Amino acid sequence: MIATEIKKLSPDASLAADRAVLADAADLLLAGELVAFPTETVYGLGALASNSGAIARLYQTKGRPAFNPLIAHISDAEAAFRLGKPTQLAETLAAAFWPGPLTLVLEKKPDCPVSQLATAGLDSIALRVPANPLARQLLAQLGAPIVAPSANPSGQLSPSTADHVAAGLGGEVRLILDGGPCEKGLESTIIDARSDRPVILRPGPVTAEMLTALGQPSSPGQPSSPGQPISPGQLASHYAPQKPLRLNAITAQQGEWLIGFGRLAPACDVTLSESGDLTEAAARLFDLLHAADAADCQRIAIAPIPEDGLGAAINDRLRRAASPKA
Ligand code: TXA
Ligand code: MG
Repeated sequence: MIATEIKKLSPDASLAADRAVLADAADLLLAGELVAFPTETVYGLGALASNSGAIARLYQTKGRPAFNPLIAHISDAEAAFRLGKPTQLAETLAAAFWPGPLTLVLEKKPDCPVSQLATAGLDSIALRVPANPLARQLLAQLGAPIVAPSANPSGQLSPSTADHVAAGLGGEVRLILDGGPCEKGLESTIIDARSDRPVILRPGPVTAEMLTALGQPSSPGQPSSPGQPISPGQLASHYAPQKPLRLNAITAQQGEWLIGFGRLAPACDVTLSESGDLTEAAARLFDLLHAADAADCQRIAIAPIPEDGLGAAINDRLRRAASPKA
C-alpha cells in the first residue's frame, strides 16, 4: 500500500496552483511513478512511455495481462507520427479528430522510444492526442509520451470520475489528478489506419457515421474472429460491473436496479438520459454502472439503447459488461 494523493484542479488548469501540481505530476512520471489523470474519455493510469520498469508496475497494478498493449498519448499529430508511420488515411483522420477521442493504430517506427512492454512486442502502436486541457498540459510539461490504459483494475468498469479511480486503485498509485467528470465518458474509438480504409477495432465517440461524413467509410465486417482479438478491448467480457447485468429491460424484475433511457423503461431507478440523448447517456454510463454496483440491489437491468451513432459504442460496452466473466 502507498499513500494516494488526490489533487483537485480547475478544469482548464489555469491557476498557478494547478501548474505547480502538474509540474509535480510530470516529475513523478519522470521518476518512474504512476499518475492517474483525466482525459475527455475516461481517466487514464499514466506511466512514462520509455520507462519499462514503470510500465511493468502499471500492468501489475491493473492486473492486466502483458499481451494487452497500451495506448501512447502525445501532444500533437507531429509527435504521433514520430512514433508511428503515418498513412494518408491517418493524416486525414488526425486532421479531422485530433485532439480528441480517437486512437490510431499504425506501424511502429523502428526508432520508436516507447517500451516494447507497452506495445506488447507488436510491430504496431496505438496513438492518441487527447483534448482534455489537464491531459494536454501534463503532456506539455513532461515533453514525452505517456502510456495510459483506463485507470481501473483490469476487466472492471472504466473510471469517469476521480472517485472511481480512487475506489479501484487507491493505495496503488501515488497521485490522482482530479479534473471532474469526463466529458465523453466512453473510451476512445480505436481505428486501424494502416491501410486506405479505416477499420474500427473499438467503437467510441468518433462514430461510423462521422467517418462516412468525412468521406472515409469504415470497412465492413468484424476485424477479428472470436478468440483472436486484434484489440484485446474486444474480449467478450470487459468493462464489467460486479453484479449481473440484464440488457434491453423495460421493467425491473425483483432485486434489480433499473437504469432507464428516454421513454424506454419509464419506471426506472435512474436514467441515462431522460430526453433520450445518446451523448448524455454515454457520459453517464460508467457512473451509473458504478452507482448500480454500490446500490442496495442484487442485479442490474438496463433499458434498450438505439444502435445509431454513439449508441453503437454504448451497446458494445453493455454487451461486454453483460457477458459472463471468463
Ligand atoms: O479513451 C481511451 O482510449 C482511454 C484513455 C485513458 O486514453 N484509454 C483506454 O486504454 O481505454 P485501455 O488500455 O483501457 O484500452 C486500450 C485498448 C486495448 O483494448 C488494447 O488492446 C488496444 O487499445 N490496443 C493498444 N495497442 C494496440 C495495437 N497496437 N493494436 C490494436 N489494439 C491496440
Ligand atoms: Mg480499459
